[in-house]
Amino acid sequence: MHIVHTIAELREKLSDFRRPAFVPTMGNLHDGHIALVQQAKPLGDVMVASIFVNRLQFAPHEDFDSYPRTLAADAQRLEAAGCNVLFAPREKDLYPEPQTYTVHPPSDLGDVLEGQFRPGFFTGVSTVVLKLFSCVFAGMPSGVAAFGKKDYQQLMVVRRMVQQFALPIDILAGETRRAEDGLALSSRNAYLSPAERLEAAELSKALKALGAAAKAANTADLPALELQAMQTLAGRGWKPDYLTVRRRADLMLPQQVQLASEPLVVLGAARLGNTRLIDNLEI
Ligand code: PAF
Repeated sequence: MHIVHTIAELREKLSDFRRPAFVPTMGNLHDGHIALVQQAKPLGDVMVASIFVNRLQFAPHEDFDSYPRTLAADAQRLEAAGCNVLFAPREKDLYPEPQTYTVHPPSDLGDVLEGQFRPGFFTGVSTVVLKLFSCVFAGMPSGVAAFGKKDYQQLMVVRRMVQQFALPIDILAGETRRAEDGLALSSRNAYLSPAERLEAAELSKALKALGAAAKAANTADLPALELQAMQTLAGRGWKPDYLTVRRRADLMLPQQVQLASEPLVVLGAARLGNTRLIDNLEI
């Protein structure tokens, strides 16, 4: 596996290929990332991963400085998974000057849920993803990029960006990988204390319970069910931002009276101690 830091080195390594398969990450890789590499690799003629902790998607009070940086271990895992090129730009490689051109997702998608609680987050994500796509795919007839369903809204934001900018990139959605107790794998799980780690699976349990209740309910019952789910978590010491049932198609509130007749997703974000966890479940 080649490890490259600059855009020029990356393009040189990809110059003989026509359809890269790409997994962008911020590193501290877990089995979910590795599964994305394994799923994407057969769909391209060269496998590329990137590791870049993107300052643009962190608010000043968030964990940019403490985000775990584990390049050597990540590189080993990627190589073992069959990755051919690891693009690990330094900040000066990707942002040699302040990135004043940015991509703003439409507010119906980018300013709700995660976007409401992390203003500017999806602008930071979209901007870096478009830039990484330009580094990897410029001049290529086509490509494939893989994103995990764990970050459900991010996946939708990227999908819509690719569609609206007519980028010749197929987006592959990887299923969420979970620990045995149901906790969704995430790089931020590393922040949890042993006691918090035991408690952390309660978020996925709460989403499951909310999903089961919603399936048997009407749209008018939803606010009360969502409130009850948030109160249950709060009673265990969590600080929930939202637990909500949305349409899978656009993350809007369900429209059908009978909830069971519409493809839905239950999404949640809650803070446990100092760690903010997100998860979701398609129902
Ligand atoms: O999901 C992530 O790790 C990041 O948001 C991404 C897509 C690599 C952009 O920085």
